[in-house]
Amino acid sequence: MTDWNPARYLAHAAPRLRPALDLLARVTLEAPADVLDLGCGTGTATRLLAARWPEARITGVDSSPAMLARAKAEGPATLSWVEADLASWPPPPAAADLIFSNAALHWLDDHATLLPRLMAGLRPGGVLAVQMPDNFAAPSHQALFRIAHDPRWENRLRPALREAPVARPAAYRRLLAPLAADVDIWTTEYLHLLDGEDPVFAWTESTILRPLLGLLSPEETQDLSAAYAAALRAAYPADPDGRTPFSFRRLFLVATAP
Ligand SMILES: C[S@@+](CC[C@H](N)C(=O)[O-])C[C@H]1O[C@@H](n2cnc3c(N)ncnc32)[C@H](O)[C@@H]1O
Repeated sequence: MTDWNPARYLAHAAPRLRPALDLLARVTLEAPADVLDLGCGTGTATRLLAARWPEARITGVDSSPAMLARAKAEGPATLSWVEADLASWPPPPAAADLIFSNAALHWLDDHATLLPRLMAGLRPGGVLAVQMPDNFAAPSHQALFRIAHDPRWENRLRPALREAPVARPAAYRRLLAPLAADVDIWTTEYLHLLDGEDPVFAWTESTILRPLLGLLSPEETQDLSAAYAAALRAAYPADPDGRTPFSFRRLFLVATAP
């Protein structure tokens, strides 16, 4: 599969940072000793964790060599990094005071198994704090799914399409309530203001579009990208000031271990 492109992902660093800050603001731990940042990417959120708890041992885990290389290069040297697929990398039981994950777990299947496994990685009183995009029913994502189902390439793209990876808030509450002393779940819809040409395409090409592109020939990639960019231009016109409003919903959950 095509690896992540750190530079493209970081092109929207500010709007992508805001949900990490909003999630972190809801974690009330005083002094966690061991902190994991799952799907840490280039380490943007990992560094926020280090700034908040300078004394903590903080480890970022990610499966992308390119994203981890960028994270390591930016440092600081006090952070540890692990290259691993979270699907098969269980944190040791009761090993962490905080398991944090910003915009990553929607890339993993079977949350009904994954989230209880992460709760088991927490010490008593520890916190699981997760933010996941929840924009899969929006035009930005529906347009891509519609084009991906074109018979020209549907058979190849279907296995890589993630059409509904995030469940409803009530389903996460039902899953986590028996395992937690407290569960707080909410969604926030951000109205990002994007600049430049084809700005929504520039946003989604580094995320939801990325896994599909390696599965097509260069000509097909060009055709699919052109069709998708045209659909996004129609769905997200620029305002008179030239900026393009882009609604994006995200789901947050903060569960505290008993
Ligand atoms: C959208 S980025 C978010 C990065 C970072 N958390 C941030 O807030 O900037 C998603 C990250 O999840 C990682 N990821 C996706 N699936 C993964 C898996 N199965 N195991 C480990 N990391 C994964 C990707 O490599 C990518 O770096």
